[in-house]
Amino acid sequence: MGTDLDLAAEKLAAGELVAIPTETVYGLAANGLDPLAVAKIYAVKNRPQFNPLILHFANLAQIEKLGLHFPPKALALARVFSPGPLTYVIPANENIPDIVTAGTGAVAVRIPNHALTLQLLERLPFPLAAPSANISGSVSPTSAQHVEAQLKDKIAYILDGGPSEVGLESTILSFLHNEPQLLRYGGISIEQIESVIGEVKKPDGGFVDNPVAPGQLARHYATRHPLELGDAAALISAAHNRDPIPRIASISLNRSFDALPSAYQFQLSPEGKLDEAASRLFAAMRQADDMDIDLIIADRFPDEGLGIAINDRLSRAATL
Ligand code: TXA
Ligand code: MG
Repeated sequence: MGTDLDLAAEKLAAGELVAIPTETVYGLAANGLDPLAVAKIYAVKNRPQFNPLILHFANLAQIEKLGLHFPPKALALARVFSPGPLTYVIPANENIPDIVTAGTGAVAVRIPNHALTLQLLERLPFPLAAPSANISGSVSPTSAQHVEAQLKDKIAYILDGGPSEVGLESTILSFLHNEPQLLRYGGISIEQIESVIGEVKKPDGGFVDNPVAPGQLARHYATRHPLELGDAAALISAAHNRDPIPRIASISLNRSFDALPSAYQFQLSPEGKLDEAASRLFAAMRQADDMDIDLIIADRFPDEGLGIAINDRLSRAATL
């Protein structure tokens, strides 16, 4: 673990895995044009084979150099939000290995907004394929320490870029059809996107659980302890009527609950700011999970802006 860009670049060029910081979550990176290197990602993560990966680039020029094309609406968004937490699904070509696209004929690309990782990407002659740097199904890592705890012995290096500022994975939009289609709620809100390109197609029923973005399995983002999502005050009093009474940790925007000791309450943003809450969500889920408890109760967040993405992650963790 450290900040040695030369070492990180050397390991990646040799086909090894390096964890990289991004503004959303830490990524488990490999040379995205080397199928053998990419295969190691799947092995280390225990990831289902059918799940395609995002390719990370330093800039649009690198994307175009591979012969990939952004349709006009994607370009309009890229001018505003890239580098940033937005991923574009566009048609792939013969330069992109099947193991990256999972044979879908489409590739997901992103320009992450993290100074250290942008420097790394600028000097590499290939993009980095990178899913979140966690074992499949568990909470995504937002610090180098989170990565180290799960993957230390299995990867060549961890590039330490401090805590991830956004803390939620990127928003994913597909540009494969005429109308852009939302595949995953994430770090850029749908309101921000629609202010630039007008209405995008959203999945029926509010939450994405779409086989087109296969990583959107319901059990993604799981905590080890069961998690309940809803009106936390009501859920806590219902739980306190059970026998035996479960030990509970709570997660909320800024509500506190008289029925729980304060040490067991995670208020993600005392001032009620959803971006601050998003940046703290995964770390709080981990900390709560590590406590001596039986149950995590999460208070439903406001269904607007990043609150939608936060509720999406929490509802996945609750689906177990
Ligand atoms: O913020 C992020 O996006 C982080 C950082 C590391 O960049 N990465 C991340 O990767 O969340 P991952 O692998 O955990 O999630 C990627 C999602 C999956 O749901 C996957 O199915 C979808 O992107 N995806 C990737 N390629 C796709 C494609 N060609 N078509 C449709 N969905 C795709
Ligand atoms: Mg993930």
